[in-house]
Amino acid sequence: MGSLQSDDFTAQWAAHDLGDVVVSAKEVRDRVRELGRQITQDYAQNPPLLVCVLKGAINFMSDLMRAIELPVEVDFMAVSSYGAATKTSGVVRIVKDLDVDLADRDVLIVEDVVDSGLTLNYLRQYLGARSPRSLEVCALLLKEGEQRVEQELKYVGFTIDSHFVVGYGLDVNERYRNLDAIYTFTGQA
Ligand code: IMP
Ligand code: MG
Repeated sequence: MGSLQSDDFTAQWAAHDLGDVVVSAKEVRDRVRELGRQITQDYAQNPPLLVCVLKGAINFMSDLMRAIELPVEVDFMAVSSYGAATKTSGVVRIVKDLDVDLADRDVLIVEDVVDSGLTLNYLRQYLGARSPRSLEVCALLLKEGEQRVEQELKYVGFTIDSHFVVGYGLDVNERYRNLDAIYTFTGQA
């Protein structure tokens, strides 16, 4: 499969468990820049607090915040919804909460992927209860047709088929987050 070639690395160390490139490193870079420009325009008057949902959104957050030309603030929270499996349990656990107060802030949740939508739905309610001035979502990936909970997503990087994917922050059992592109996962979870 010549498709393993991403732009910068060939990812040979991971090739055994990877299928096709779903989003190339260059496509990610270009799209993140576009999202940054859009957010810069939309929030020009009120720089947002970016809330990164650990761990999957780390790569996205790191690139996105540098593509926004505003004095943004950042904070992190960690949730667990999957355990070690590749299907959602529907149960969301807060592993690490935010450090900052959300009252009257314009909050933008930065998520890696919206699959069933259960994680995001829970997060929205959880953070919405802290009286932010606005609460929106920027998701890198949206899986087509998988949402069990309808979501209003202000920004979406890419809409993809409902394959399990890894790379650019996305993992299976904590691996493959350090890939620069996004691939289908074909190994054993
Ligand atoms: P949801 O609650 O079903 O929307 O699942 C969202 C969370 O599950 C994401 O924040 C990811 O951490 C994880 N997840 C969902 N799909 C994938 C995938 O294809 N690869 C890696 N992680 C995923
Ligand atoms: Mg995960």
